[in-house]
Amino acid sequence: MRGILLAGGSGTRLLPLTSVSSKQLLPVYDKPLVYYPLSVLMLAGVREILIISGDQHVDAFRMLFGNGSHLGLDLRYARQESPRGIAEALLIGRQFAGDEDVCLILGDNIFYGHGLPPVLREAVATVDGCTVFGYPVSDPRRYGVAVVDDAGLLVDIEEKPASPRSNLAVPGLYMYSNDVLAYPEKISPSPRGELEITDVNRLIIKEGRGRLVQLGRGTAWLDAGTHDSLLEAGQYVQILQKRQGMQIACLEETAFRMGYIGIAQFTRLAELLPSESTYGRYVRSLVHN
Ligand code: G1P
Repeated sequence: MRGILLAGGSGTRLLPLTSVSSKQLLPVYDKPLVYYPLSVLMLAGVREILIISGDQHVDAFRMLFGNGSHLGLDLRYARQESPRGIAEALLIGRQFAGDEDVCLILGDNIFYGHGLPPVLREAVATVDGCTVFGYPVSDPRRYGVAVVDDAGLLVDIEEKPASPRSNLAVPGLYMYSNDVLAYPEKISPSPRGELEITDVNRLIIKEGRGRLVQLGRGTAWLDAGTHDSLLEAGQYVQILQKRQGMQIACLEETAFRMGYIGIAQFTRLAELLPSESTYGRYVRSLVHN
């Protein structure tokens, strides 16, 4: 399975924060937003990842992560010339995917929870068509919303419906088997001028090949697309990290715990981080334990 991390979009809702910075590089408490979805791909066991960003920001992501080898990853970069929709990421990443399946994650979605890694790994291992996730929210109208039948099977997804037929929002994390990666070619832009990932998923669901995995109470899903949700995500991370003394989305730690790097490289990374930063001190403390 290969990963595609879409860090595009114009960030209009976050202006003027995004006048010169990419949305996905804005801080969520102590680290850039993109760290969170990248750590999710890593926890899913995905190590070859294409980061897609707008023309003006792609070099910043490259400066941040390089080729990823220091984290035991293989990171590549691609441009999305204008924000033509989430589904376009599958087309941009087509060649990169080769004959492998794909996990697509949005660069402004934050997932956290103890039970998440096994759920992700099971989904990675079993995808056939598309696998999407369902997360209960109090106001589903802002999202893609899953429609399920009495047996809990996915029968449709509606994008930002005025009258949602369930409270299950579909977060920005999708898995696709290789044979459906060209499906975005079959759809047309929506009224907002974008190739909607929901339209791609609907095609696959109509073929009877869409699966919904419900994320339970133990998982947090936050998006950081507005000023309030960005601040709230930061507060969430701050509170949990302070309380537990554990970092969320510490990439060096994740790489080490997943076995992508060994202790020697982990130690080297820790030494490169300044002890003046709490993040640096945290990684250093793990090495010395
Ligand atoms: C997009 C998708 C939507 C999904 C959401 C998750 O919405 O279209 O289905 O629920 O991401 O963050 P957008 O942020 O483009 O409005």
